[in-house]
Amino acid sequence: INKIAVLTSGGDCPGMNAAIRGVVRAAQAKNIEVFGVHNGYVGLIGKQIVPLDSRAVSDTIHRGGTFLGTARSEEFRTSAGQQKALANLQELGIDGLVVIGGDGSLSGARILGEMGMKVAGIPGTIDNDLWGTEYTVGADTAVNTVVDAIDKIRDTASAHGRVMVVEVMGRESGWIALTAGFAGGAELILIPEIAYDLNRVCERVKEAVANKHHCIIVIAEGAGNGMAIGDHIHRKTGLETRVSVLGHIQRGGSPTVFDRVLASRLGAGAVKALLDGKTNVMLGCQGANIVAIDFADALGQKKVIDAEEFNLASIMSI
Ligand code: F6P
Repeated sequence: INKIAVLTSGGDCPGMNAAIRGVVRAAQAKNIEVFGVHNGYVGLIGKQIVPLDSRAVSDTIHRGGTFLGTARSEEFRTSAGQQKALANLQELGIDGLVVIGGDGSLSGARILGEMGMKVAGIPGTIDNDLWGTEYTVGADTAVNTVVDAIDKIRDTASAHGRVMVVEVMGRESGWIALTAGFAGGAELILIPEIAYDLNRVCERVKEAVANKHHCIIVIAEGAGNGMAIGDHIHRKTGLETRVSVLGHIQRGGSPTVFDRVLASRLGAGAVKALLDGKTNVMLGCQGANIVAIDFADALGQKKVIDAEEFNLASIMSI
């Protein structure tokens, strides 16, 4: 491996910059040239590829977003787009590619890997929904942002004796809702992986308000519409209910210490994997270790939510 390119793709997350920096600095330490691709696969097809040296990633470890830009590319879904992307890399003599993103982005990397490029993926998504890694880059920052919001919302909930519904991200995964709801002491957590009965939810809300004077419900966007649920609760219980949809504040902001360290380690891990001759792998953290997992495994399985944690969160909220 002599030249590596790095790109960020799909939804951004805090820590993407730290991951790019990790790749660049680990590669430079091994005298490998690094190129940055702007705007994900869109830039790979459009040849928006620039050299990156150590100084290009100075002052980035603490920044949210991604200085390379990110995008979702329709053209890359076509075989013509994929050929073009590969040809652009080959033309510059690039023999290794690191992709930072969620499952869709890593599936794109897998395709390029199957076409002959040496590829390594870094899991970057606030959803923490990738199999094979305990944490994805950005997830820790996102749940800290959500808990900060819940703590503030709790003040109003308690001052007014209100029911507060907090809708968080997670179209297909309840990890953010479960983790932040647990840490934020929510009375109810609604996630897409576990079915719930709205009548029972209303009963629990009434119990919580009777016992504690207020009630906080954290709902993942994939488990229902926060506004509609809040409206339903109000109509059924008569209790004063307010809804906060946290939205994209969960995707931004300065990454936590945990995310900065994780992203840096995964970045270095990706370079090491390519140098070790591994390809078509996703780097992940398992316990204290950074491991390389075949895309076939990482992308072929669904991470399951921790049912025990869900039950514990419920016990803790009584
Ligand atoms: O995949 C991360 C995620 O934050 C999801 O939880 C959310 O549904 C989605 O991105 C929203 O993405 P966008 O607003 O970029 O379309």
